[in-house]
Amino acid sequence: MSEASKSTNITWHLGEVDQAKREALNGHKGAVLWFTGLSGSGKSTLANAVELALHQQGAHTYILDGDNVRHGLNKNLTFSDEDRMENIRRIGEVARLFSDAGILTLTAFISPFRADRAVVRELMGDRFVEVHVKASVEVCESRDPKGLYQKARAGEIKDFTGISSPYEAPEAPEIIVDTGALSIEDSVAQVVDYLKHSGLMG
Ligand code: ADX
Repeated sequence: MSEASKSTNITWHLGEVDQAKREALNGHKGAVLWFTGLSGSGKSTLANAVELALHQQGAHTYILDGDNVRHGLNKNLTFSDEDRMENIRRIGEVARLFSDAGILTLTAFISPFRADRAVVRELMGDRFVEVHVKASVEVCESRDPKGLYQKARAGEIKDFTGISSPYEAPEAPEIIVDTGALSIEDSVAQVVDYLKHSGLMG
């Protein structure tokens, strides 16, 4: 459950420069591309490659990446269900701020729970593009780029997604990228094409 606000006596201020004005200046919408998938599925790799392609086309972009954000803003959170929910709640709010700033924001978090992603979708309205970076546990475990699956199997990491903690795949994502079957170039093209056809990018 998301917590009720504990702040009282606060007023929302509207600025002269709003999202529409920033978007007009940038030539594209502010939105979030929400990459979700298992550890090792290719979220960060794909998000970085998509960002580079968008940047080269003149878009204003920023990446929020799970491993990086957990070094700073979310360093006080563990991998319990409750803390993962708080992780995603905070990133959803940050992504909304970035989107309001007119930026195409790419997030790369496992974000294993459907309900938590649904909260962010609700918050972002039509500025939310869910990208399921699809690869089976078997494929991710065979890649094991950080050696974490091996540690999880050995019982050295508890609550590891796909091994000892669940991953709830999206039911109706805007995009499904099968990183086991597609090249990185084709995966990038799939995401960029979606942005163009959806009208988020001009
Ligand atoms: S999330 O589940 O809360 O969305 P997040 O994307 O921020 O996860 O962080 C995942 C990254 O943390 C993984 O790519 C991996 O490097 C690392 N990690 C460390 N412990 C775990 C764990 N128990 N489960 C999953 N990932 C873990």
